[in-house]
Amino acid sequence: MSVAPEIRIMTDSQELAYEAAELFVWLGEQTMAASGRFRVALSGGTTPKGLYAALAGPDFSTKLAWPRVDFYFSDERCVPPDHPDSNFGMANETLFRPLKIQPEQVFRMPGEENRLERAALQYEELVRKEFQATAPAWPSFDLVLLGLGEDGHTASLFPGTKALDEREKLVVATTAPQGVKHRLTLTVPTINHARAIVFLVSGNSKATAVRWVLEAPDQDDRRAPARLIRPETGRLIWLLDWTAASELTIARQGIVSHEE
Ligand code: 6PG
Repeated sequence: MSVAPEIRIMTDSQELAYEAAELFVWLGEQTMAASGRFRVALSGGTTPKGLYAALAGPDFSTKLAWPRVDFYFSDERCVPPDHPDSNFGMANETLFRPLKIQPEQVFRMPGEENRLERAALQYEELVRKEFQATAPAWPSFDLVLLGLGEDGHTASLFPGTKALDEREKLVVATTAPQGVKHRLTLTVPTINHARAIVFLVSGNSKATAVRWVLEAPDQDDRRAPARLIRPETGRLIWLLDWTAASELTIARQGIVSHEE
């Protein structure tokens, strides 16, 4: 049974990043206390940069036992790891290097591989091994961080693609209608088996997609794939800044005022 999403609206992107960092550290502490490690799948795109800078900054860099965090990825562009469009490359620059994360803690998707189906299978095998989750068991990430595209995509699950229908594989190769065409992505069921899923969305350009996903009952899930993200048993939290939330009823009716 899927739970209703928790929606938190922050004043601006800076407060959004800070709230996300506090939530990341809180989830990390809870998870480590229970299981000893904190296994996170990082989002791609540019929005998480603010979060990564906050985590690597003076307010948070000493708040978590970083050697006990393992970093995976929700998706990757099929480019080399040092390419400017690489999701790993961005996280490496803004998070791993500043926090001195060791290579053995980072499990990046092999975006540089030419044979994409093989690359997807390679990552699936790696995740299954690290989580000791042999098929048909599902690995449960402690946290999956996600962004939202203006077309309602998340990870690299784009509208109208076959990837949206995958219900057995953990990872698939797919294509994007803009930007780097070839992608690797976690599948819907893999994400939905996470213990916590956090969407981090900022900016007016995302306001319509946020409404499609959170408030448009008649919207087709395949046209706004982030609607497919409904955790089996975990928590679903949307962290929005005011501009990204501006088309939501709770924002328009002033239930949540901008001053709060
Ligand atoms: C990617 C992401 C993608 C991203 C959204 C939002 O690899 O691009 O996984 O889903 O989260 O497109 O991107 P921005 O944060 O750059 O707006």
